[in-house]
Amino acid sequence: MNTIGQPLDRTDGVLKVTGRAQYAAEFPAAHLAHAVLVTSTIACGRVASIDTSRADSMPGVLYVMTSRNAPRLPQGGRPDVSPPAQRQLSLLQDDEVRYDNEPIAVVVADTLERAVDAAGKLRVAYERASPHLDFSKAKAHGHAPASMIGGKADTERGDIEQGLRAGAVRIDAVYTTPMEHHNPMEPHAVMASWDGPRLTLYDTTQGVANAQRAVATFLGIAPEDVHIISPFVGGGFGCKGSVWSHVVLCAMASPQVGRPVRLALTRPQMFGPVGGRPHTEQHLVLAARDDGTLTGLRHATSSNTSTFEDWTETSGVVTRMLYEVPNLATSHRLVPLNVGTPTFMRAPGETTGSFALESALDELAVALKMDPIALRLKNYAEIDPQEGKPWSSKQLRECYRLGAERFGWSQRQPAPRSMRDGATLIGMGMATATYPGHRSEAAAFARIMPDGTAVVASGTQDLGTGTYTVMTQVAADALGFPLERVSFALGDSSLPHAPVSGGSQSVASVAPAVREAATQARQRLIETACADPASPLHAVPVNEVTVVEGWVVSRADASRRDPAAAVIARHGGRPIEAHATAKRGDETRRYSFHSFGAVFAQVHVDGALGTIRVPRIVAVYDVGRLLNEKTGKSQLMGGIVWGLGAALEEASELDARYGRFVNANLAEYHVPVNADIGTIDVSVLNVPDPHFNSLGARGIGEIGITGVPAAIANAVYHATGVRVRDLPITLDKVLQGASV
Ligand code: MOS
Repeated sequence: MNTIGQPLDRTDGVLKVTGRAQYAAEFPAAHLAHAVLVTSTIACGRVASIDTSRADSMPGVLYVMTSRNAPRLPQGGRPDVSPPAQRQLSLLQDDEVRYDNEPIAVVVADTLERAVDAAGKLRVAYERASPHLDFSKAKAHGHAPASMIGGKADTERGDIEQGLRAGAVRIDAVYTTPMEHHNPMEPHAVMASWDGPRLTLYDTTQGVANAQRAVATFLGIAPEDVHIISPFVGGGFGCKGSVWSHVVLCAMASPQVGRPVRLALTRPQMFGPVGGRPHTEQHLVLAARDDGTLTGLRHATSSNTSTFEDWTETSGVVTRMLYEVPNLATSHRLVPLNVGTPTFMRAPGETTGSFALESALDELAVALKMDPIALRLKNYAEIDPQEGKPWSSKQLRECYRLGAERFGWSQRQPAPRSMRDGATLIGMGMATATYPGHRSEAAAFARIMPDGTAVVASGTQDLGTGTYTVMTQVAADALGFPLERVSFALGDSSLPHAPVSGGSQSVASVAPAVREAATQARQRLIETACADPASPLHAVPVNEVTVVEGWVVSRADASRRDPAAAVIARHGGRPIEAHATAKRGDETRRYSFHSFGAVFAQVHVDGALGTIRVPRIVAVYDVGRLLNEKTGKSQLMGGIVWGLGAALEEASELDARYGRFVNANLAEYHVPVNADIGTIDVSVLNVPDPHFNSLGARGIGEIGITGVPAAIANAVYHATGVRVRDLPITLDKVLQGASV
C-alpha cells in the first residue's frame, strides 16, 4: 500500500480554490428560469388564500405555484416512503400549515431578482390555529417511537432498580441540549431540467441514489427517468441526507414554464424546512460502589419531533455500549411540536447522548473523589455489553493513555477552582468519544483507458471531506498506477450504486468496492499482456507479473515490461474494465464494530465575567486505518470544532409564541470562527480493523464531534466549580451557577 495513508493533497483542491468546481446552483442552462421558495409565517393552521395578482402581472414572472394550481401528485404528495431516510414533504397539495417557514408557494421568473421581488408581493391570508411549541408542557405526554435507528426505543438489562440501590454513591441529573440547525457553507440548491419524460436534477445531496428513488416516488415516475448529478457538495452534515420539499417543488415547476429551473434556499430557509437537531432532555441516574464500579445506570431521553412525522434523537444508544454496567435501562420519548421534522445532524444521538453520559460520569468521579480516567477504566467494556459480542478492534485504553500524555493530564490538580493564572480560572476536562462502524453494500467500476490512464467510478458523494482523494488513492494503489493517471468519478446516479454518505460509512463501504474493481481490472490487464505474442511479457506466468507505475512488469526480470497503453493499443484499443460489488459478510454476527477516542480540553474562564476560552483540545482516536492523514485529520478536527460550537455557542432560539427561529441567520446563530479556536491536537492510532473491510478502515465523519461538549463542560466545572447541564454553556449560566 504505497499511497494509502499518505497525507496527500486533495485531488480536487485546485478545482475548488480556482472556483472551477461546479456546485448545484452554478450549473448553466439555456433559458434558465429562477425559482424562489415562499414559506409560511404562522406555525399552525391553514392558508386561507394567496393573492398572486400583483406578482402575476410583474415583468418576467413566469409562474406562481400555490396549492391552488400546483400539479397534482400521486397519493396527494404523501406516498409510502421509508422514513427516516425519506420524509414527509410539503408539496402544495393542500393548504395546511404545520410549522413556521413551511413551503407554501414557489415563484418562478426569468431572473432571480424578479423572482425575489415578486415573491415579496404575494398576499397571504391565514386561518390560524394554536400551535404546540412548549416542550416542557408537552413532554409529559411524549410517546415512544414505533421504530428507531440504532435499536429499540426502550432497553433494559439486568435489574435496574436493584442496580441503582446497590451503589454507595448516586448521581441523578437532567441534561438538556438545544435545537440546532445545520449550516453548511452551501445551502440546499437544485436545478431541474426536463427532456420529455426524463428529469435531470443538479442537486446538492449526500445520496444520489436515494434522491433518484425518492424524487421518482413523489412524482410518480420511473427511477430510470430521474438522473441526479451532484459532483460537489459544500458540506452536508446530515441535512442533505434526505430529499426535502424544495427539490420536488423545483422539478414540479420546471415543466410548467417549459424551461430549466434553479431553486436555491436562502440562509433563513435552512431553519425549518430541511431538518435540524431536536431539543433533548436527558435524565440520567448512575449508581456506583466506592471503588467506582457502576452498579446501575438509567438514561431516559425526551426529544421533540414535528406534529406530522416521528424522528428520534437516539441519545441513549451510546449509553448502552460504552461501559460495562450490569443493570441498565434506556428509553426514548418523542414530544410533537409545530416545527419542521428534525433529522440526522452529525453523530445524531451520540453528540447529545455523550454530552449527558460523559458529564454524568464526571459528576460521579467528583462525588467519588476519583480521577475521571480511572473511573472510565474501572468500567471499561471488554466486550460490547449490549450485544454480548467481542469488539472487532478496540484501542480505547491506548487513546486514554496517549491523550493524557499529550495533554499533560498529570499536571491537573483535581479540586475545582484550584488552577488559576491571575484572574483566569483554568480547567481541564476529558470525555470519551465513540461512534459505530457502519457499512453498506456498494459497487464500483475501474476502466483502464487506451491512453494509459484509468477512470474509476462509484455513485458515492464527496461532501467536501475528501472522497475523491481517498478513492483515487485506493484505486491507484490497487491498479499499480501513479496517482496522477487515475481519475475518480462520483456524484451521479447513473454510476454504480453506492449508499448515502451518512453514518460515516462512505469510505468503509465504497473503498472495498473500488479496491476490488481496480484489482480485477489490473488482473485483466496482466492477462491481456501475457497472452499477447507481441508483448515483452508473452508467456510469462500471470502470477509472476505485476503492475508498477502503470507498467505491466515481470517480477523476476524488470526489463520485461509493457506500458498499459501499449497493451491496450495492440488489443484493439478497447478499454479494459471490471465491475465489483462489496458488502458485509457474516462478520457483523460475530463482532461489534465501533470507533473510540479520548478528548481532553483546557478552558480559561474569566473569574469575574464568566467568559470561556478553549486554548487547547487534545484528541486521540481509534478509527482503524486512516486512508489519508491530511484529509482524515482535517475531518476529525472539523468535528472537534463543531463540538466546541455545540458546547459554547450553538442554539436555534424558538419564539414560543410564533414558532419562529429568531436567530435564523449566521450573524446570530453562532458557530465557531477562527478566533474561537486554539490548538487542536489530533492523533490517530492507525490500528487496522481486522474484521471490518479489506482496508481495515472505519468511518471518521462523525466521531470527532462526540465527547467534545462533555470534555469542555467538565473542564468548565473543573475551572469554576459550576456544573452547567444545559448547552450551550454561556457566561450567564456560569455566573448564575457561581452566585448560588
Ligand atoms: Mo450524517 S448526520 O449520518 O450525514
